[in-house]
Amino acid sequence: MEYITLKHSDLKVSRLCMGGCPLGGYGWGNTQEEELIGAVQTAVDLGINFFDTADTYGLGQSEITLGKALSGRRKDVIIASKFGVRVENGKTTYDNSPEWIREALDASLMRLGTDYIDLYQVHYRDGVTPIVTVMKTLEEMKRAGKIRYYGLSNVHEEDIEELLPFTGKFISFQNEYSLACRKNEAEIIEIEKKLRMNPLTWGSLGQGILTGKYDKNTVFDKNDRRSREIYVNFHGDKLHKNLEIVEVLKKLSKKYEKPVSAVAIRYILDYFPESVVLCGAKRASQVIGNIEGSNWKLDIEDLRYLEKISRD
Ligand SMILES: NC(=O)c1ccc[n+]([C@@H]2O[C@H](COP(=O)([O-])OP(=O)(O)OC[C@H]3O[C@@H](n4cnc5c(N)ncnc54)[C@H](OP(=O)(O)O)[C@@H]3O)[C@@H](O)[C@H]2O)c1
Repeated sequence: MEYITLKHSDLKVSRLCMGGCPLGGYGWGNTQEEELIGAVQTAVDLGINFFDTADTYGLGQSEITLGKALSGRRKDVIIASKFGVRVENGKTTYDNSPEWIREALDASLMRLGTDYIDLYQVHYRDGVTPIVTVMKTLEEMKRAGKIRYYGLSNVHEEDIEELLPFTGKFISFQNEYSLACRKNEAEIIEIEKKLRMNPLTWGSLGQGILTGKYDKNTVFDKNDRRSREIYVNFHGDKLHKNLEIVEVLKKLSKKYEKPVSAVAIRYILDYFPESVVLCGAKRASQVIGNIEGSNWKLDIEDLRYLEKISRD
């Protein structure tokens, strides 16, 4: 496994982070809790020490399952969670207020079965609470020993100016990025450079399309989010373009003798050398495949070719 120390921190994390969205058991088709727990434990056994979740995934279930899977191994791992998406009576709002941060954090700690979160991230800004207020509340949580560091997610170029005075406070940011989604690339580069934070890429396998197991005839069940058109990677022209990328990944998979998913992961690791790649997984075999993305490099001409054919 490759590791990187996140800037402004002493968090030495695996560059492959296990994404906790499927651990919520909601919106990814049928999942089995024992398999999800097995996936997390396999990840730890094989050197992944970084786990990302959010209070909203499966309405708390992801944190519960992750906490269960990691019980007894807390000191060996780095847990990241998120707050700011508030779901009540079926209604979703964004809330970064001090009152909600305190309440959401205590609830996450309880579900995770831990007394601290290593990296606590603003899932989405609420458009109301000034960033300085968010930061002061997170500092208060740090002093209370409930979190070690805090970070951002879904930030964009227009947020840079507001965030500049707090460089070094928020230590990382998450944005969607993969060979199937390069629309955020320019701003990831800008944010990384100006705010000096490591990028954490989400949807790194394009929600699964870049694993090579789906084709144009794939139909998802209703209980799978990818059945909905907003999951663009699986619909219309975007699906066709993604399947062309997958054909190239399959060739490279043969060349390097690595799973297709591992080549897709390697592309990000090589393209953004200071990144951490978040991948969701539903069972141990998927984790094992994804770990093969670590500890090798794409030849420069293959990297450039993937860059060319995946351009938006
Ligand atoms: N900050 C944010 O707003 C935000 C938003 C979204 C996600 N995230 C984070 O980023 C993480 C990664 O994103 P994601 O989980 O949405 O999508 P992803 O990592 O692109 O895709 C995950 C899905 O791909 C399939 N898969 C994974 N490895 C595989 C393998 N080796 N072989 C075959 N199939 C495999 C699995 O689903 P199937 O087997 O069903 O295909 C899995 O659920 C999340 O879990 C979450 O922690 C953050």
